[in-house]
Amino acid sequence: MKPIRIAPSVIAADFGYLRADIARAEQAGADLLHVDIMDGHFVPNITFGPAIVKTIKSLTKLPLDVHLMISRPRRFVTAFVEAGATNITFHIEIEDGHVYTLISEITSFDCTVGLSVKPKTPLSAIKDYLPQLDRLLIMTVEPGFGGQRFMTDMLPKVREAVQLRKEGGYKYDIEVDGGLDRYTIGPCVEAGAEVIVAGTAIFGQPDAERAIREMRDAAAAALE
Ligand code: DX5
Ligand code: ZN
Repeated sequence: MKPIRIAPSVIAADFGYLRADIARAEQAGADLLHVDIMDGHFVPNITFGPAIVKTIKSLTKLPLDVHLMISRPRRFVTAFVEAGATNITFHIEIEDGHVYTLISEITSFDCTVGLSVKPKTPLSAIKDYLPQLDRLLIMTVEPGFGGQRFMTDMLPKVREAVQLRKEGGYKYDIEVDGGLDRYTIGPCVEAGAEVIVAGTAIFGQPDAERAIREMRDAAAAALE
């Protein structure tokens, strides 16, 4: 059983007080920081690019879990690695394909690689790549915005990811992203999720330490 890791999502932080908010999450016991990159084309929202990731890197010791919700990730791998990404996850639904090339380009750096699937994309779409992955990110909301409602019908996909890893002897972590809080973390970890992205549930709360503690307690209770 892999340890449960909590990844506050910076998209929900107060960008007017980014240094303080990131420090809050780090002191609250976050395991890594989830950084959503959106291009306004792959998803209907725009966040920020490598320059802000570089700033975030300068503000924390936490590993940066960069989630590329962009149509042409190949153009930006080097920029995000140089900005400080520890892991780079891209989406299987991108148009310009070259998935194997992209995986090898990312792992040619000192950076782990993840693949993500939108809610409507079945795991069969990424089965060929599972042996190469360090992380499998299952979206539990339609990507693009924080603060959305968790999609419980994604739980079977988490269970399927566990089963595929067992059958194949693969190494990937199973990550969930979207609508996670102290109520939805339990069913997710019970299904097999190990890396839990949470934006609103942590940065949206006055007490980040209490928010993370309540999520960890709920996860532990679900695994008893
Ligand atoms: C969706 C984003 C969000 C974000 C987390 O594209 O990726 O899922 O990380 O937002 P919350 O935790 O507020 O749903
Ligand atoms: Zn994300």
